[in-house]
Amino acid sequence: QQTRHYKFNIQMANVTRLCSTKSILTVNGQFPGPKIVAREGDRVVVNVTNHAQYNVTIHWHGVRQLRSGWADGPAYVTQCPIQTGQSYIYNFTIIGQRGTLFWHAHISWLRATLYGPIIILPKLGLPYPFTKPYKELPVIFGEWWKADTEAIISQALQTGAGPNVSDAYTINGLPGPLYTSCSTKDTFKLKVKPGKTYLLRLINAAVNDELFFSIANHSVTVVDVDAVYVKPFDAATILISPGQTSNVLLRTKRSYPMAMFFMTARPYSNGAVGTYDNSTVAGILEYENPKSFSSAAFNKNLSLYKPSLPVFNDTSFAASFSGKLRSLATAQFPAKVPQTVDRRFFFTVGLGMSPCPANQTCQGPNGSKFAASVNNISFATPTTMALLQAHYFGKTKGVYTTDFPVYPLMPFNYTGTPPNNTLVSNGTKVVALPFNTSVELVLQDTSILGAESHPLHLHGYNFFVVGQGSGNYDPTKDPAKFNLVDPVERNTVGVPAGGWVAIRFLADNPGVWFMHCHIEAHLSWGLKMAWVVQDGSLPTQKLPPPPSDLPKC
Ligand code: C2O
Repeated sequence: QQTRHYKFNIQMANVTRLCSTKSILTVNGQFPGPKIVAREGDRVVVNVTNHAQYNVTIHWHGVRQLRSGWADGPAYVTQCPIQTGQSYIYNFTIIGQRGTLFWHAHISWLRATLYGPIIILPKLGLPYPFTKPYKELPVIFGEWWKADTEAIISQALQTGAGPNVSDAYTINGLPGPLYTSCSTKDTFKLKVKPGKTYLLRLINAAVNDELFFSIANHSVTVVDVDAVYVKPFDAATILISPGQTSNVLLRTKRSYPMAMFFMTARPYSNGAVGTYDNSTVAGILEYENPKSFSSAAFNKNLSLYKPSLPVFNDTSFAASFSGKLRSLATAQFPAKVPQTVDRRFFFTVGLGMSPCPANQTCQGPNGSKFAASVNNISFATPTTMALLQAHYFGKTKGVYTTDFPVYPLMPFNYTGTPPNNTLVSNGTKVVALPFNTSVELVLQDTSILGAESHPLHLHGYNFFVVGQGSGNYDPTKDPAKFNLVDPVERNTVGVPAGGWVAIRFLADNPGVWFMHCHIEAHLSWGLKMAWVVQDGSLPTQKLPPPPSDLPKC
């Protein structure tokens, strides 16, 4: 076990994309941000100093944070933000995870530019359970706005309308040649040798879009998702939601007709109020020492070397892709699926409307404001104290209540016409769980404003995806089909558009854990809630006290 020290200076930097320059928030002036590299079992210590004029927090997305909830990072959930001129040291150990995760800002929309990879290598001397790659590299998807993203979300929240869509998708911060001629030089290039295996560490850090990704004339082998090994399978196209990560192997051809191939990504979206647009980010896979290569011919035949991607609303592709994901479930890497359940929950997730305040004109549906909710509660984030502090110090009064509504199943038919009253209510409500509760949670898309897929992310845990389906969840029939043997284990799952997904997890990590849609617009509208997991009785089952430098509100 080793301790890995990092220094993150939050500072502004000028960055030019799509022929326009803007000042963005960065770590150490880098965009995308620096990578964190650790081995399974290592301690990671990141000293974050905020030199910018925004309040900031950093979240280590997917890191389990066993008994280190103070280092998790979502603003006002586990900590107050780091204010200008202040520092906070995030200190955590990586336990039982290997693969790729990422870090990002977790306040407002600052994660639009503040993100970077977390690379977790296997323990020293422990090989990968797949072909040793010749080389490894992160491939991070993002979104780029020419305008200031903080202005975009604050305007959207004020008017109640949907936020402007991004101007480009990016790979490793670069939009590629398919947008405008001036973005050609901002193209991600992956130079490869023939006949080798490359490990691509895919990360979807995009703000609002699930993405399809494909490399022309090549398929990849999926070996890991969300830092958990999976049974390998080959795929010509990958579906990756915001908050999801995946390690894939790319085997380069021994001989090749061409030297360059496009790799492209564009949104998968099935929302009536979706953020779908048809622009495509492209990077280039380039073989070294091409035997014969004419860039003129390449430019002329661009369409030949572009992969074909599914259409933007291809829900059946989405269902079949997620259905292929299975835990490795071997003696060395067992799938510890809870076989019994202590508490069953049914949560509806979806978009809805909230009334327009008297002093405002709202531009949302029927003059109302867009809102999003879990069980019809649009989560109101506290501002004076973080939930975790309130919980730890027993000062919950005025911060949160534990009366999160727990529905009986089927308040209404989610595939038919929704009931008239679909206005959401606001609240800071949590579900409290005794230590070691075995939880089964069914997440149902409400389809109130049209069916839409929601990548739900749970902090502090991995969960097992035991079942999924389209239409209404049927508690009399569906549980019989659950996979309790080798379901995929992950931290972010797409609740299918107009469908449901069932997950299980063991609440063995004391603290306050955020759960939310990783589409930032939906998060801003309130599609979020929190679990309060109580301490267990043993000293090793308790959350330690907060570090002395925990920021104050
Ligand atoms: Cu990627 Cu609440 O996180």
